[in-house]
Amino acid sequence: MPARSALLALAAAAQACPASAVTLDARRTLSRAEARRVYDGFARRGHIGGRDASGGYGGPAVEALLSMAAFADAESCVEFGCGQAKLANLVLAEHPSLRWSAVDQSPEMVALARAAMRPHGRRFAVALTGGEPEAAAVPQRVDRFVSTYVLDLLSERDMRGLLGRGRAHSRT
Ligand SMILES: C[S@@+](CC[C@H](N)C(=O)[O-])C[C@H]1O[C@@H](n2cnc3c(N)ncnc32)[C@H](O)[C@@H]1O
Repeated sequence: MPARSALLALAAAAQACPASAVTLDARRTLSRAEARRVYDGFARRGHIGGRDASGGYGGPAVEALLSMAAFADAESCVEFGCGQAKLANLVLAEHPSLRWSAVDQSPEMVALARAAMRPHGRRFAVALTGGEPEAAAVPQRVDRFVSTYVLDLLSERDMRGLLGRGRAHSRT
């Protein structure tokens, strides 16, 4: 099966299955604690060669997201796993009335995000979490819910939990 068809089939299967029903991919992922150690390390030492935001935005996935997200029509955005907040920085610079609320489970990444986003004042907030998908919940509905280069780090259970949160809390 070509890669795109396989992806579409996987997405359709995931959507058709209730969160607890079927495990589509049982391969082991990093535990939350392991992922925290890895990203604390990346934040301290930096890392070269990744295709996430620290490698600079402009990759096809982020370009597609930015072209479809219509942030100009949004007032609020929640982000799960913001890292150094490169996406938030880019988007808030272009959309001055947007407010951004992020979570990340790496204390070192959260510190970098806070420092980088200081110029945006109260329009950006980031909370340190224990890695649970429920941390992405916000009391009120939000206009956008984003997460870039994070889902592949999560267990299937957490991934499904997070997608459920996104659907429940977001208008798009
Ligand atoms: C590859 S980086 C991507 C950062 C950012 N989204 C970007 O595109 O630049 C993954 C980020 O997700 C965070 N992360 C991984 N698992 C998480 C979890 N369970 N809860 C919250 N953040 C998590 C990591 O700490 C790291 O900052």
